Amino acid sequence: MIKIADILPGLLSETSKTLRRSEIRELLKITKQPGVISFAGGLPYPGLFPIEEMKDVVNTVLDREGEHALQYGPTEGDSRLIDYLVNWMREDEAAEIDEENILIVSGSQQALDLIGKIFINPGEPIIIGLPSYLGALQAFKGFRAKFIGVPVGKEGMDVDKVEEILKEYGKKGERIKFIYVVPDFQNPAGVTMTLKRREKLLDLCYEQGTIVVEDSPYRELRFEGKSVPMVGAMDKKGYAFSLHTFSKILFPGTRIGWIIANKAIMDKLVMAKQPVDLCSSPFSQSVIYEFCRRGLLKPHIERIVKIYRKKRDVMLEALEKYMPKEAGIDWTHPEGGLFLWVTLPAHIDTEEIFPKAVEKKVAYVMGSAFHFDRSGKNTLRLNFSYPSEEQIDEGIKRLTDLFKEAL
Ligand SMILES: Cc1ncc(COP(=O)(O)O)c(C=O)c1O
Repeated sequence: MIKIADILPGLLSETSKTLRRSEIRELLKITKQPGVISFAGGLPYPGLFPIEEMKDVVNTVLDREGEHALQYGPTEGDSRLIDYLVNWMREDEAAEIDEENILIVSGSQQALDLIGKIFINPGEPIIIGLPSYLGALQAFKGFRAKFIGVPVGKEGMDVDKVEEILKEYGKKGERIKFIYVVPDFQNPAGVTMTLKRREKLLDLCYEQGTIVVEDSPYRELRFEGKSVPMVGAMDKKGYAFSLHTFSKILFPGTRIGWIIANKAIMDKLVMAKQPVDLCSSPFSQSVIYEFCRRGLLKPHIERIVKIYRKKRDVMLEALEKYMPKEAGIDWTHPEGGLFLWVTLPAHIDTEEIFPKAVEKKVAYVMGSAFHFDRSGKNTLRLNFSYPSEEQIDEGIKRLTDLFKEAL
């Protein structure tokens, strides 16, 4: 008899051979060891989940519409939730959209996968940030995209570099399929793209004929400063695809997000989603809709913003207090979101230091994990939403000792 283990490798598709486990998910296993202060994850603080309110919301949903909520639903999503989102986006973002521009997805991670599926043929070029959200790299890699990296600095993605690349490809008669950006409090760097850069990015897309995929899970988590309009809200010509999620502003456990997209492409997104999950959980959507209908979302966001702002402040204060700036260590000052980005002198390799950090019971994610070309060796990402204020102070102290040793 043929052994299944002998034939499986030969049965695998070319795409599946390129798939890799997420380094962060692997890392998180190590950081769960007792006593480790973890700045590695990207998790919302679970103490802020509105569990008591949810008990009542869930009971109401089951009593009122259990038969509907526990049944399959339309692929596009629950029309009540879509209506709520349309009104929200119109009021807050001045986005010119209606119900047909929204598709409910199972987390914005699914949106990234669907976008990859409908746009990327193997080997086709897309522009992504250096650094970029790891889950996006994973999703687009699954469709064998050719990554073209553009540096992301304190003002967001370098749009002059984007212009250069688009023009260079244009001359060759090739088109960049899309540009992936996280303009608000980027994961991983915590930086926000300036209005000027957003405007230029959109103009470039119109001029050179490419689209922008705007991933926006952190936008509502602003601690200070003035909100900058979303690229998707500035776009009046259907070039921007915006991705949103309840994961960071409410909780990730229901796995509900939404895409705002050009109607002309909506059908493709729906068809790409159907074979994956038929529809996003109708129960989750009913529960989230009920939570929002009761007017609980906005006060909840206000509450978590207050707490994350304090945690960010504690992390910035600890960095200021302990880290030797004069030794060439620099970090970003995020105006919102969950992350902060540290840059060490060029000769320091944060991947090499990582095992020592775990010995000292403190964890981060090395910057190279967010660079598809494995550059950014001297950088690292710190999360401030999950650890307590005491842990943040102590963890930064431990990291400082480690970096001083390496220097
Ligand atoms: C930039 C970015 N996009 C997408 C996601 C995935 O979010 P969701 O839970 O909605 O799938 C995350 C989660 O960390 C993220 O940081």
